[in-house]
Amino acid sequence: MSAATADSAQQVLERCDVLAGISAAADGIERSYLTPEHARTNWTVGEWMAAAGLTPWQDAAGNLRGTLAGPTQDAPILLLGSHLDTVPGAGRYDGILGTLMAIAVVGRLRERGVVLPFCLEVIGFADEEGTRFGRTLLGSCAVAGTWQESWWYLRDAHGVSLHDAFVAFGLDPARVGEASLRGRDVIGYLEAHIEQGPLLQDADRALGVVEGIMGARRFELEMVGEAGHAGGMPYGRRRDALLGASEVVSAVETLARDAGAIGTVGRLHAYPGAMNVIPGRVEFSLDLRAQTDALRDEVWGEIEEAALKAAAARHLSFEVNELHAARATEVAPSLAAAVETGIRATGDAEPLRLLSKAGHDAMAIADLCDYAMLFIRCKDGISHHRDEDVRADDVALALDAFEAAVLAVAHAHA
Ligand code: GLV
Ligand code: MN
Ligand code: MN
Repeated sequence: MSAATADSAQQVLERCDVLAGISAAADGIERSYLTPEHARTNWTVGEWMAAAGLTPWQDAAGNLRGTLAGPTQDAPILLLGSHLDTVPGAGRYDGILGTLMAIAVVGRLRERGVVLPFCLEVIGFADEEGTRFGRTLLGSCAVAGTWQESWWYLRDAHGVSLHDAFVAFGLDPARVGEASLRGRDVIGYLEAHIEQGPLLQDADRALGVVEGIMGARRFELEMVGEAGHAGGMPYGRRRDALLGASEVVSAVETLARDAGAIGTVGRLHAYPGAMNVIPGRVEFSLDLRAQTDALRDEVWGEIEEAALKAAAARHLSFEVNELHAARATEVAPSLAAAVETGIRATGDAEPLRLLSKAGHDAMAIADLCDYAMLFIRCKDGISHHRDEDVRADDVALALDAFEAAVLAVAHAHA
């Protein structure tokens, strides 16, 4: 690896540190959609895009885009990127690293005067995590042209609708369709991302090539019983919503695990929430993923049945609100081959292939064009946590591999 690549990796990591300072929370990283932190991040990263030779602009959905013109006005487009938003209590690399790497690679190609047969467009997607409105991949769905009118009524924890948040951010909801690339000549989308799991580390590899991304569904669930006195109300007459929800939480693990799927209850609120009051209502979330949509849906059916049974036994009602569904996707063989070529160029003769259990903007972009992904080892597989970490030498290898992947795509389209 050259000294220039090591410097470039160092710069990418320093920029991740800068963005870690743009946070709504004083004691951790939190940047969600259509917030002041989102706006500040777009300004900051836009300046880095401009320094790399890209023309930065914010699209009609709040995504940050940077364009490098191709040989002709009507040249096809190759998309590169990842996301700039975070979960609450996030690490500093999930999404951010891939976006900043894409900018760095464009800067390196431009400095060397490499002429490509396509336009490059780097996208820092504005909402991959769904932290604010529950529905994930809003930014990439806008680019893929799959935005749905019903989403305008989604509300955040303070009751602000997505429509009103757009207006407050300075965006015009009526123009969201202008973010779409549908109908344009898009060759494909390449995304680099930390693995968010331990497989590369366990295999002693810095980089891997993604084979596909698990399908996911997200639900808001509710058990309703009756609040009452924690001392006076006998067990036989209680309608404790938290006990009902707890049975569902356990069933999620058992049923998903037995079937080879992954289910997580990441949020649970019991009301009215006092130590001496029986919980009368519980709201809880479910994130469900599997390699195939059929398996994921089958497990959901089993979870729903277990929940209805638990509710009936305790005289509770059970409500389901589905917030998000994304189909399982497979990478395009030709683009994945370009990523493999890139990894081989770094000295790994047989790149490890991995299925992504984490969701990515590529899932939404798959409705627009082909995609492929490069995974980068992260320490102990930790992600969605402040201890998320990567090695500088891995990032340097990843930059070389990502650049070589772009050149391999260029070669195939020459
Ligand atoms: C995105 O980070 C996900 O939840 O997989
Ligand atoms: Mn994430
Ligand atoms: Mn991510």
